[in-house]
Amino acid sequence: MRVLVVTIAPIYWALAGESGEALNGHSLTGGRFRQESHVEFATGELLTMTQVARGLDPDGLLLLDVVVNGGVPESLAAADLHVQDFEERYVQMGPGRLFVGSTQRFLQGSLPSFLRCNHSIQYNSARGPQPQLVQHLRASAISSAFDPEAEALRFQLTTALQAGTQLSQPPPSQPLDPFPRPQREGPATPG
Ligand SMILES: *[C@@H]1O[C@H](CO)[C@@H](O)[C@H](O)[C@H]1NC(C)=O
Repeated sequence: MRVLVVTIAPIYWALAGESGEALNGHSLTGGRFRQESHVEFATGELLTMTQVARGLDPDGLLLLDVVVNGGVPESLAAADLHVQDFEERYVQMGPGRLFVGSTQRFLQGSLPSFLRCNHSIQYNSARGPQPQLVQHLRASAISSAFDPEAEALRFQLTTALQAGTQLSQPPPSQPLDPFPRPQREGPATPG
C-alpha cells in the first residue's frame, strides 16, 4: 500500500497549506466529513474506500475511520516505488458536496505507471461552500516507507491549496511574471 497516498487524502486535504482565500478541509468542514473514493490502477485493479472524519480529539488530532476494499497490483509489493507530484481539483457540486478527481503517477522501479482516483465528499452544508467553485491542491515531495518493526506505513508530503480555476497561472488581470516566485506551500511557517 506504499503507493496509496490516497488513503490519507482526508488528512492532507484537511491540513493543506492555504493560500489566498482557499480553505482547506479543516477550515471548510471543521474536520467532520465523509469521503467515498474510487481508485483505478492502469492495470485495471480497483479499490474503493470510505473515510469518515469525526472531528478533532482533545489533543487536536483528527479522528479518522478508513475502510479499504479491493486489490492493488501484485507487482507493487516488490517494486521500489516513487510517487510523483500530483494535483487534485476540488469542485463544489452542491451544498456540502465536493467532487475531486486526480491522476497520480509513480515509478515502479524504473517503470512509469499511474492510478486514477476520484473522491465524493459530504459535509455539513451549514458550514457553507468553498470560497470559489474550484480549488486546486498540489502535492509534492512525496515519500512513503513501510517500517516492518513498528508495522507502520509512513507517508510524508507537502500540500498546498489554491482557489480558482487554473493552478500555476496568474489571474487574467495580472501581467505574466517572467520570473515567477515559488508558491507558498504548507506546512507553512506561521503567519
Ligand atoms: C470514479 O472512478 C471510478 C473508477 O475509476 C469510475 O468507475 C467512476 O466512473 C468514477 N466516477 C465519476 C463520477 O467519475
